[in-house]
Amino acid sequence: MSVIHALTGKKILLGISGGIAAYKCAELTRRLKDQGADVRIVMTSSAKEFITPLTMQAVSGHAIADDLLDPNAEAGMGHIELAKWADIVLLAPATANLIARLRAGLADELLTTLCLATPSPIAVSPAMNMEMYQAAATQENISVLALRGLLIWGPGEGPQACGDIGPGRMLEPQQLVARVVDFFNVPHAVFADVNITITAGPTQEALDPVRYISNHSSGKMGFSLAEVAQKMGANVTLISGPVNLTTPTNVKRIDVKTALEMHKASLENLNSCDIFIACAAVADYRPEVVAQHKMKKQQGIDDLTLKLVKNPDIIADVAKDKNRPFCVGFAAETKDVECYAKDKLKRKNLDLIAANDVAKAGQGFNSEKNALSVFSAQQRFDIKLADKKAVAHQLLEIIYQQYKQ
Ligand code: C5P
Repeated sequence: MSVIHALTGKKILLGISGGIAAYKCAELTRRLKDQGADVRIVMTSSAKEFITPLTMQAVSGHAIADDLLDPNAEAGMGHIELAKWADIVLLAPATANLIARLRAGLADELLTTLCLATPSPIAVSPAMNMEMYQAAATQENISVLALRGLLIWGPGEGPQACGDIGPGRMLEPQQLVARVVDFFNVPHAVFADVNITITAGPTQEALDPVRYISNHSSGKMGFSLAEVAQKMGANVTLISGPVNLTTPTNVKRIDVKTALEMHKASLENLNSCDIFIACAAVADYRPEVVAQHKMKKQQGIDDLTLKLVKNPDIIADVAKDKNRPFCVGFAAETKDVECYAKDKLKRKNLDLIAANDVAKAGQGFNSEKNALSVFSAQQRFDIKLADKKAVAHQLLEIIYQQYKQ
């Protein structure tokens, strides 16, 4: 009989950097393995000054990875393969130096390179002297990593190796194991067996074979939602307008150009859809006639009138369907955000609407960040300005809470 532990089948890449807390990594590895995890270890060169690779190899049961340029190691599990292998990368201890290198995006040795290459979540467990932890540079570096969606676990407070007392201790091995267990259990499997369809990006409405009407949507918010929803266990279908983004791992992507194509693709899959999130910036109107050939300038005529006709409202039609899923809309507004959002919630018969003020600099369209106010018929939730992936996570938590009611 095989025993199922909390981390059975989970693949954990433990990245150790050079701090005194590295001596606890042997214990940490044992406790992760007690819970059924497969642990592979990457050490920085300075980590090896604090705990030997031989010890770590013995407790993990695998050879230690420590060299980016070692052809023998690359012939085994190469660095990209290792980066893809991990379900989570746990950096413990993460020194001030490692944190600064991650913030800068350096790929100066194997561990930092893996952190850039991995599609998986990265958890950072800071460990350093309290003054170093409180230094403005370290604080800023940690907040940038958090904004990018890295998980920051710790530090704890208490006596330090140098004799100071304060914040900067690495969390104890058992606390870190509890964080890893929580990470896999609580928010991350909540959408198991749930089918989520997400529309993303702009639509393009052709005028002729070379011109179209469109908008500034980059698709980043919808793609972030797709990536995070998949990590939370959902089967995700992403219906995307023309964007320049790579498809998140294990997400089914359907590419469309026009609102009519997006409408058709959205309605076709409704019998197997539990949650529909309309993140796309759909063109409200399309040219009535698409010229077969490129439209030419007319000599002596200074104006041109285009007749536009209304596109179908995709989410409103989804919400009318007999197989109606839980419907989440977006409202990008430049003023009176709450008022317009609530009106759309009602008019389109939605369960939730996520509104953002696209007139504010640095958020919304074509930006890396977003802030949302989310409304149901009775409640309001505010998600502060953050990296779109962090915002996607919080929005999906809200969707989950409302969906399961
Ligand atoms: O454009 P509007 O502000 O009405 O968009 C609100 C919501 O409706 C968004 O979720 C958007 O994706 C969706 N929408 C749609 N089909 C349209 C227009 C908007 O699904 N034709």
